[in-house]
Amino acid sequence: MKVLVTGGAGYIGSITSEVLLNRGHDVVVFDNLSQGHRAAVPSAAEWVEGDLSAPQEIRDAIEHHRPDAVMHFAARSLVGESMDKPFFYLRDNVVNGLNLLEACVAGSVERFILSSTANLFGAPTSAVIDEQAPIAPGSPYGESKWALERALNWLSQTKGLRFASLRYFNAAGASEMRGEHHSPETHLIPLVLQVAAGQRDHITIFGDDYDTPDGTCIRDYIHVLDLAEAHVLALQALEQGNRVYNLGNGEGFSVRQVIETARVVTGEAIPEQMGQRRAGDPARLVASSDRIRQELGWAPQYPALEQIIDSAWRWHQHHPDGYTD
Ligand code: UFG
Repeated sequence: MKVLVTGGAGYIGSITSEVLLNRGHDVVVFDNLSQGHRAAVPSAAEWVEGDLSAPQEIRDAIEHHRPDAVMHFAARSLVGESMDKPFFYLRDNVVNGLNLLEACVAGSVERFILSSTANLFGAPTSAVIDEQAPIAPGSPYGESKWALERALNWLSQTKGLRFASLRYFNAAGASEMRGEHHSPETHLIPLVLQVAAGQRDHITIFGDDYDTPDGTCIRDYIHVLDLAEAHVLALQALEQGNRVYNLGNGEGFSVRQVIETARVVTGEAIPEQMGQRRAGDPARLVASSDRIRQELGWAPQYPALEQIIDSAWRWHQHHPDGYTD
């Protein structure tokens, strides 16, 4: 199939593009480079520099390239930032997402895969979160993704658009060629590795007074290649109807456990300091991915936290300053 990937210059979008190309799909990357990197886009992908806030740009791209499917990664994605800048998130993610959806319907694109999020579930009380868990977005960011999930439901009913919504827990790790490079970096694992590499003095732990065994927040870290694989499977499965899946490993690790594992993987001391809680952070987010395992046979190839951190560390060592474009 020919897949148009919005945000294909970003972290998860570029690695999913790489995997799609390896599986014989054609890829068109559409990205405004506001957060992504031109160097992250696979050379075998067609490239369109465009902005979803300009409806005509995405309409033209779809009309010109005639994709069979769209995978939508282009979005703002930081829980904490969205608590400070709600309009950024509500406007950019919802309005730009609707521009894209309208262009898909106008261009007769029949398949759509949304990057959704665990933040739909806010601060859940259940030990593991399945697709039946109550939706209660934990931030303007989560709300923006829920708005797009709802829009997809209606577009499926009224326009016949088939969709998959993939609710990522904490994406981490790297492929051989591509990794995580945000400016500024806010994610735990790349920051911890910057400390290991001597590029930062210490890692700040955002609170140790949560209701968890060691007091620090627990997250479900999933290898970005396993996430990419879920997109490939979901694309095929759309022929049999819409899909909504939670995507994680089903095991949670605290901030302290992540730092400790990174010490083992890197052999570095990684000094830490205690800081304040960050707005919007729930204590614990762990996925049940039973549905995608049962329905699509998805199984993570890199489930161990050591493997995830090791892949990120190898990429970091080869690209100490990330992408340099
Ligand atoms: N953390 C620290 N210190 C830091 C950075 C992070 O203690 O310097 C903590 C956070 O408080 C959190 C954990 O490490 O408890 C993970 O934080 P990240 O910033 O790496 O990731 P988030 O859990 O905030 O969010 C990520 C994605 C979101 C997605 C969410 C789903 O950025 O898009 O996972 O769980 F919605």
